[in-house]
Amino acid sequence: MAGVIFEPFKIKVVEPLAVLSREERARRLEAAHRNLFLLPAEAVTFDFLTDSGTAAMSAAQWGAMMVADESYAGSRSFYRFERVVKELTGFRHVVPTHQGRAAERILFALTVKPGMTVPSNCHFDTTRANIEYGGGEPVDLVVAEGKDPALDHPFKGNVDLARLEAFCREHAGRVPLGMATITNNSGGGQPASLENLRGVSRILRSHGIPFFLDACRFAENCWFIKQREPGQASRSVKEIAQEVFRLADGATFSGKKDGLGNIGGFVALNDDALAEEVRNLLILTEGFPTYGGCAARDLEALAVGIEEAMEEPYLEYRAATTRYLAEGLEAVGMATLKPPGGHAVYIDAKAFLPHVPQSQYPGQALALELYLEGGVRSCEIGSVMFGKSDAAGRFTPASMELVRLALPRRCYTQSHVDRVIEIAAAVAARRASIRGLRLVHRPKFLPHFTARFAPA
Ligand code: F0G
Repeated sequence: MAGVIFEPFKIKVVEPLAVLSREERARRLEAAHRNLFLLPAEAVTFDFLTDSGTAAMSAAQWGAMMVADESYAGSRSFYRFERVVKELTGFRHVVPTHQGRAAERILFALTVKPGMTVPSNCHFDTTRANIEYGGGEPVDLVVAEGKDPALDHPFKGNVDLARLEAFCREHAGRVPLGMATITNNSGGGQPASLENLRGVSRILRSHGIPFFLDACRFAENCWFIKQREPGQASRSVKEIAQEVFRLADGATFSGKKDGLGNIGGFVALNDDALAEEVRNLLILTEGFPTYGGCAARDLEALAVGIEEAMEEPYLEYRAATTRYLAEGLEAVGMATLKPPGGHAVYIDAKAFLPHVPQSQYPGQALALELYLEGGVRSCEIGSVMFGKSDAAGRFTPASMELVRLALPRRCYTQSHVDRVIEIAAAVAARRASIRGLRLVHRPKFLPHFTARFAPA
């Protein structure tokens, strides 16, 4: 984007931002036991906790919602949604779900049995958990470049094809499907290249293994393919996306990301027999196959949103904003994971707070300071989330201590991003005085959501 980055839309509806005093924020932090998940959103000024379900919808989406057909069975809105998804993906069966993990739960309940294993570049937490719930083992086969936060490489979300080939041979008969997450959220929102996805498809098909995409951020991934992959610049993002989906046999999707919706998702696939089972299981927990746990208006919002998410001025502005935020943070002394991802910037908190040992959660410490300084809510992805303590109290830290600033789609403006960089600069100016934390309550499962902290 040449010159000043500007939003390729004007604003029709506004929502006031909560701006609290520093004293009030300090009080709110105490009351939330220093866990940002426990803060009421009304105490947050810039909410970069997640890009999931937090998009601002367009006038066209709200308009479509008003004309939705809320019939229980065979609603007109379902057929519209199905048409859009089929045209994009080419899959024969499109089954709506209330969000991504519902699609995952249904798919894996039907395909994964104890002793089986599912490869991907990196599985997202909910994908991993749903595979494990069925007794399976999720395995991450991302390329080595994808594991080095300081390395700048265009496609750090690629699957290591040599390892995938060996994996399929070694586990023959025990791989019900293979996956690729686009973009690779757990690896920093990094894309996989078209060439790599073609390779994944070829290898899995040569072993007779179905290929499923975790396509939550397919549009951002395809934008990076257009920008970075030789020979792709002249194609539209939609053409690239259509090819990507046709390399696979199915996909799970959360409409809360590149569906530009606040809720909704789907599982789509070609296998007729499996699709029938998917619909039967869907009826048990999500609802009838023409609404799948959504209101028809949610399906209308996604039908419009999926198309809008592929509009190139929007994608160009989004990638430029993410990069601008990363560069701004770097300039004030916060190293970030390189290159910046599609939906988020990840700060390396271990590098920023070298005097805070990993056992005192540098990521959490930085996240709290960003809130205290200016009301920024981010998300620790480090030892709070992935650290382990054994029965003897021995602590094994996570491999990285990251703080994720995920950008809600079309929600905040460029001056908001400038303000966040200013807040980061103020935190950086007093980094030496920032202290670590100790956990005073650690729940057994998914500790980051409800853990409580005190100063170390
Ligand atoms: N797959 C990926 C790659 C995701 O990032 C997410 C959600 C899901 C699946 C599950 O979708 O939330 O609709 O059930 N990611 C959110 C995040 C929660 O903050 O990164 P869901």
